[in-house]
Amino acid sequence: MKVLLIGSGGREHALAWKIAQSPLLDELYAAPGNPGIADHATLVVLDVEDHAAVIAFAKEKAIDFVVVGPEAPLVAGLADDLRAAGIATFGPSKAAAQLEGSKGFTKDLCARYDIPTGAYQRFKAAEPARDYVREQGAPIVIKADGLAAGKGVTVAMTEAEALAAIDECFDGAFGAAGAEVVVEAFLDGEEASFFCLSDGKTALALATAQDHKRVGDGDTGPNTGGMGAYSPAPVMTSAMVERTMKEIIEPTISGMAKDGNPFSGVFFAGLMITAKGPELIEYNVRFGDPECQVLMMRLKSDLLPILYATATGTLDKVEAEWRDDAALTVVLASKGYPGSYDKNTPIAHIPDASAEAKVFHAGTALKDGQLVATGGRVLNVTAFGKDVTEAQARAYALTDKVEWENGFCRRDIGWQAVAREKA
Ligand code: AMP
Ligand code: GLY
Repeated sequence: MKVLLIGSGGREHALAWKIAQSPLLDELYAAPGNPGIADHATLVVLDVEDHAAVIAFAKEKAIDFVVVGPEAPLVAGLADDLRAAGIATFGPSKAAAQLEGSKGFTKDLCARYDIPTGAYQRFKAAEPARDYVREQGAPIVIKADGLAAGKGVTVAMTEAEALAAIDECFDGAFGAAGAEVVVEAFLDGEEASFFCLSDGKTALALATAQDHKRVGDGDTGPNTGGMGAYSPAPVMTSAMVERTMKEIIEPTISGMAKDGNPFSGVFFAGLMITAKGPELIEYNVRFGDPECQVLMMRLKSDLLPILYATATGTLDKVEAEWRDDAALTVVLASKGYPGSYDKNTPIAHIPDASAEAKVFHAGTALKDGQLVATGGRVLNVTAFGKDVTEAQARAYALTDKVEWENGFCRRDIGWQAVAREKA
């Protein structure tokens, strides 16, 4: 099979690394890719926003299958256009990608199909949203409706914070994404991420993970795209996974199909495990970054036929097997992230991969033969262990061998699980 992978982050490096191990693969291309992905794929320069150009490339190279990594091209309808051109594609349609693209869309779906989630209302103007907040009181959660690179959510512990967040949205802090606002009840519990494939009819549960969104140790400082993750998430016991499938995933699949938007791709469900059970915080319609890195490390099965079955409606024919071990990834980021940071700082050394560990590239480039950091999140040092404590020790031992002066990382990735394992 000839495969084209769209994307350039650590998530796509992990997907490329895994796809490259498939005996079914003849050739892998990545657009635009990164220097880590280049170890497994031929990199191609393509404007992913130019769907006609992507289709022309796919036809020219006789690509059998396209895997779309990030959300933006999905929300822009790249998967629809590729499928319309007769090319099998992993990733939901533009209509189904609204599950990530519009928080209000997802909340309305939950309301229609009795999917457990926080009570909410949608607003197109500040004044009624402010009135609703005053009525409900704090804590309360304010969300820009559209894609805001993970920055459009304020968990307001006071009414004043909530009112300020509403004004920020309607004042244009998130551009068009903030033209509508969802105000939502605060959910108390432990968060977990759950990944599940769907071909529109069938579901295949993958695995669970826990992310670390704040930039600083002890979950302090501003939110980021994710500073590290581990899998599995201990709070997601098999009973909790079963409830999540029954109460959240299955009604979403049938509801989306009933509404004329069948969902094909990966559900990345952000859950709050409350006293009542799992409640949906949000859906993403792509693999998490860096959650994908730990998932791919733990997946024993060949990824390629699983993704292909998802895209072609034959998910009932495949299974996914997982290593029992824990995997943990530490994100090395440029100093200053998630604020401003220097670009093109040199990375002098990356330690070699071993059977138990691997460094994925997220925001790197080659400039005149020198590896440099170009992004906020730059490297994902990922390791296995018999438990999270061991995976954490191995990941940090490897992290300390990376030679990059402008890099930093959190030193406590996995702390919740490590504390549990010690107890
Ligand atoms: P989201 O982008 O919707 O995942 O929200 C970002 C983060 O805000 C989540 O990972 C949670 O930590 C927090 N959050 C979102 N919605 C709620 C809620 N209803 N109750 C409590 N925390 C929330
Ligand atoms: N790590 C969170 C995300 O991919 O959205």
